[in-house]
Amino acid sequence: MALSGLFLILFLLEHLYTNVTLFFGDGGVEFDETSHSMVRMIIIRIIEIVLFLAILIHVAQAVLLTRENNEARPIKYTLNDGGKTSSWNSRNMGFTGSVIFFFIVVHLYNFFLPYRITGTVGGVGQETISVNVVHALENPVYALLYLISVIFLAFHLRHALASAFHTLGLSNKKYMPILDKVSLGFSILIGVGFGSFPILFYGAKLLHKDLLNWAL
Ligand code: HEM
Repeated sequence: MALSGLFLILFLLEHLYTNVTLFFGDGGVEFDETSHSMVRMIIIRIIEIVLFLAILIHVAQAVLLTRENNEARPIKYTLNDGGKTSSWNSRNMGFTGSVIFFFIVVHLYNFFLPYRITGTVGGVGQETISVNVVHALENPVYALLYLISVIFLAFHLRHALASAFHTLGLSNKKYMPILDKVSLGFSILIGVGFGSFPILFYGAKLLHKDLLNWAL
C-alpha cells in the first residue's frame, strides 16, 4: 500500500503542476499544449497504465487489509476510545479513500473520457481541454463535489504519507516529528492547490470574470 500510495502522491504533484498553468490567463494555451504533448509521449502512456494499476492495487489492498483486520478480531473491544489514542484521519482512511475513489470515477468521466476515449474534446473545431475544465468547474454541483473531495483527499494524505514513511522503515523517534510536518505540509499543499480550481473558477463565474483569459 505504501509503494502504490507513494506513486499516487508523485502523480498528484505532477498533476497539480500541470493544472497551475490554467491560471496563466493565456486562454488555456499552455495547459492545452502540455496536455497534448504529454499524450503524445510514449513514456507518459506507460506511466498512465502504471497509474491506473496503482489505483486499483491500492484500493484492492485496502479492502483486503480491512477484511483481514476484521477477521483477526471478530469480537470488538468493549472499551475502545479511539479518539484518545488515534487521529480522526487514521481511523477513517477507508471512508476518505472511498470518497476519493468515487471522485476519481466522476473525474475520469468528466475529462479523461471525452478527451482520450470518445475524442469529443480537444480536437480540431472542438472545445479545448482547458475550456472543458472551466465549463465543468462553473457547474455548482461539480465545483462542490471537487471541493469536498479535495478536502477528503487532504485528510487522507495527512495520515497516508506519515504511515508510508513508517511502513518503509524511514521513521524513528528523531525523524518522526519532521516526517509528520512533511505530511502536514504536503496535505495542505494538495488541499489548497487542488481546492483553488473549483473555488476560483466557480468564484470567477459568480463575479462574471474570465479567469482563463485574464492576461489577454
Ligand atoms: C481539482 C482540480 C483538478 C482538475 C482541474 C483536474 C483536471 C484533469 C484533466 C483535464 C484531466 C485529463 C488530462 C488528460 O487526460 O491528459 C485529468 C486527468 C486525471 N486526473 Fe485530474 N484534475 C483535478 C484534480 C485531480 C485529483 C485531486 C485527482 C486524484 C485524486 C485527479 C486524478 C486524475 C487522474 C487519475 C487522471 C487520469 C490520468 C491522466 O490523464 O493523466 N485529478 N485531470
